[in-house]
Amino acid sequence: MAKEVKLKVGVQSNLHEVTQEIPDDVPRPWDGSDKLKYIGGRVTRIDGREKTTGRAKFTFDVQLPGMLYAKFLRSPHPAAVVKRIDTSEAERYAGVKAVLTVQDQLPMVVRFAGQEILAVAAETAQQAEEALQRVKIEYDVRSFVVDVDQARQANAPLVFNTQVEEKKSAGDLPGAAEKTGQQGNIRGPVIRPRGGTSEKVDAALASSHAVVEATYRTQVQTHCAMETHGVVAHWDDEKHLRVWASTQGTFTVRDELAEVLGLPKSNVRVITPYMGGGFGAKFGAGIFGVMAAKLARKTRKPVRLMLDRKEEHLAVGNRPNSVQKLTIGADKSGHLKGIKLISYGTAGVGTGAGTSGPARNIYQSETIYTEESDVFINAGPGAAFRAPGHPQGAFALEQAIDELAYKLKMDPLEFRRLNTANNEVRQVEYEIGAKKFGWQKRNPKPGADRGPIKRGLGMANAVWYYIYGTGFQATLQVNSDGSVELSNGVQDIGGGIGTIMAMVVAEELGLQPTDIAVRIGDTDWGFGPASGGSQTTAGITPAVRNAAYLAKLKMFEIAAPILQVQPEQLTLADGKIFAVTHPSKSLTWKQVASKIPGDKFSVLGERVRDYREFNPRTTAGVQFAEVEVDTETGTVKVNRVVAVHDCGRPMDRLTLESQVNGGIIQGISYALFENRILDRNTGVMVNPNLENYKIAGSLDIPEIQAVIIDVNHGQSSTGAVGIGEPATVPTSAAIANAIFHAIGVRIRELPMTPDKILAALESIQGDTS
Ligand code: MOS
Repeated sequence: MAKEVKLKVGVQSNLHEVTQEIPDDVPRPWDGSDKLKYIGGRVTRIDGREKTTGRAKFTFDVQLPGMLYAKFLRSPHPAAVVKRIDTSEAERYAGVKAVLTVQDQLPMVVRFAGQEILAVAAETAQQAEEALQRVKIEYDVRSFVVDVDQARQANAPLVFNTQVEEKKSAGDLPGAAEKTGQQGNIRGPVIRPRGGTSEKVDAALASSHAVVEATYRTQVQTHCAMETHGVVAHWDDEKHLRVWASTQGTFTVRDELAEVLGLPKSNVRVITPYMGGGFGAKFGAGIFGVMAAKLARKTRKPVRLMLDRKEEHLAVGNRPNSVQKLTIGADKSGHLKGIKLISYGTAGVGTGAGTSGPARNIYQSETIYTEESDVFINAGPGAAFRAPGHPQGAFALEQAIDELAYKLKMDPLEFRRLNTANNEVRQVEYEIGAKKFGWQKRNPKPGADRGPIKRGLGMANAVWYYIYGTGFQATLQVNSDGSVELSNGVQDIGGGIGTIMAMVVAEELGLQPTDIAVRIGDTDWGFGPASGGSQTTAGITPAVRNAAYLAKLKMFEIAAPILQVQPEQLTLADGKIFAVTHPSKSLTWKQVASKIPGDKFSVLGERVRDYREFNPRTTAGVQFAEVEVDTETGTVKVNRVVAVHDCGRPMDRLTLESQVNGGIIQGISYALFENRILDRNTGVMVNPNLENYKIAGSLDIPEIQAVIIDVNHGQSSTGAVGIGEPATVPTSAAIANAIFHAIGVRIRELPMTPDKILAALESIQGDTS
């Protein structure tokens, strides 16, 4: 059965009405006409106290009786064949309970320095570490390549001598699972023409009034989550495995462990009460997860296997680097005629270094053509990383767009307005952002400041996609004492999803968010989304609201005979259930709950398919940055960032702004500091720590203004769309454009460190002398 509802949809400042059919057992979607009490407001995290007092237990903190500590032995060589392993001395070492090789049989091929070879479980971490030093391994060392340009040469050492195929999986990198050719170390290209062939784009560019052609380079960035990867594995009995995991996908970890260990899914339980960041690198069980489970089975003891900071940098994921040749052209009036991107990059021994998302999805252009290739090198595999491919792609595209605007003598903001005219959300965002930032006061001339410290203003666009899953199930239990418990297996990656879930229930039931006990992070509860593609909120909140709606109907049924009205005549607010027409006919929530037959009831809400499509199925964001460049030292300081983003209907502005702040901070860090450095002579990472691998610190954080605009789609019962990833997409590009505006010269390579700034400044001094 279905019912029809009228919905106000669109940007909040320009709503229009649509008629929409929705299933019978779901509430009318929240839309632009709803004035809600909590949703869209600012609610502090329900677990803030637990976290700030240190009471919150992360996987890292889990301690079980009799627990063993496991450590990996990793290859010191970037390319080698393991011929022989002798573990006898290690096995005899004090406290050692088990030694297990990753591969059952030898020889084993090693493709990067840091690749796992075996693991030891011992009574203490110290003993495990010491035992590893007593393992004897015979390596046949092979030649390797760690430089992406060298790896492309015909005579380069081959990283793989077979065709590499990747299974589609949660957290895929752009192009990772595409079927494509492979030659030498090059896999690809993946070609995605939009509006024509390479020839068509070339013709459009040839007939352009102004063209920019430039090559941009981005570095490898590692995820640097505060909590490292790892698990504590415990067998309840021979057939039932329980694993505490620092993961962004409780169910994806469960499924992988079940598959690898040959267990039914329901025999594997994954628990993630709190976790300290994933950013895309924590979807799978990992070799560490599988090894911990096997060691625990072998020793019949719980096993803790948490990686250290060095292992984090080497082996569990990174943002691939890129070399992007971009050619873009526009006609005299400033309309884009062609965007052509030829991109290659390396995900080490992994695949998916694509960068074309921004080039294909932000601007209206007569023709767009993109070609992306992966280059294999002997380095740890890339992994999905907060908007995979997009900070890279935006760094190139948004600088090229800026360059073309200057060439056409147009304001970079006006140029963007013109070429995104069909995107209403963007137009609203430009307006708000420019005003808050003070763009109109900007001196159009780059490098105009006098003195050694020069200020610059720049901007850049972000794009991300609306992604959601279905089948998620939230259970809501109402007890006869009036308490309300919500449970679902979803993990909180750090964005605060538990708080959002409490808000949604409170909104629907007329209670307060603190009235709702939220239980998440355990696969024994209902199916929930992995936190990937910024889909957690869009995925789970409709299931939660649908559950609360069913609970509300049940409470109305119980209250109706007491109030002597029909259930349909009832409504609720502020802890009271009352008749719409006679508000004095009321009972408190608790009074009604006390009449629940038996002791409690529970209902199940499901995430069903979206009710309606909307176009484009993307979210828009724009960021403005002000920088100060010290032309004597080459240092860049970001003073201020104004960010305007959309994520459908905002749930909690406080957690949303927090996500945007985080995205910008990570973007600044990417723009100015972070860089994985591999030694060309040894193939080893030279900065696998947080001292020499620089990340932004508190003194590098500018004043940030984050604005979330309301866009109603009415597509689900909550209308939520995600924000986690888009917030970091345009930051490095906005900073690069601001640097150009400050000093009048382009930095086309990340990170934009003082040496590059000084070299660029020298190059223009050379020009004028
Ligand atoms: Mo994301 S990079 O899909 O966590």
